Amino acid sequence: MDLKDHWNNVYSTKAETEVSWFQNYPKTSIEFLDLFTLPLSANIIDIGGGDSHFVDVLIDRGYENIWVLDISAKAIERAKERLGERANKVNWIACDITEFKPELKFDFWHDRAAFHFLTTEEQIYKYVNISEDAIKS
Ligand SMILES: C[S@@+](CC[C@H](N)C(=O)[O-])C[C@H]1O[C@@H](n2cnc3c(N)ncnc32)[C@H](O)[C@@H]1O
Repeated sequence: MDLKDHWNNVYSTKAETEVSWFQNYPKTSIEFLDLFTLPLSANIIDIGGGDSHFVDVLIDRGYENIWVLDISAKAIERAKERLGERANKVNWIACDITEFKPELKFDFWHDRAAFHFLTTEEQIYKYVNISEDAIKS
């Protein structure tokens, strides 16, 4: 089973509360976000966002330029279902982070528990290069 199939299988067979990483409210991530004074127009991306509720908080706070990237289209589908109409405020990208070709620069790059699934040197090298190019200095 390749990576994409693996994660689609996870999101097809387990409810959100059945996965070990579930958080009803992503407290640590939001505390980290709060260390910065980002304008509502900031470009914010959640890498390997899955169906995390981080995006819900971003929408609630009024951020206008939000991206969620995940290798699993099923995860994205679930997040969209949860958000309903509000999902339209988000740019969704179903792709492997190591193949991501960003068309703009981000002010805030969030990754909770996705990077550590990259286990080969090649994957890690690609991730670091992509993020270095895509994050505003
Ligand atoms: C442990 S979950 C964490 C999900 C979410 N960040 C959270 O905090 O609830 C890891 C996530 O990374 C995604 N993922 C794993 N490898 C990936 C890759 N190479 N590219 C993009 N997403 C990936 C999975 O589909 C999954 O949603």
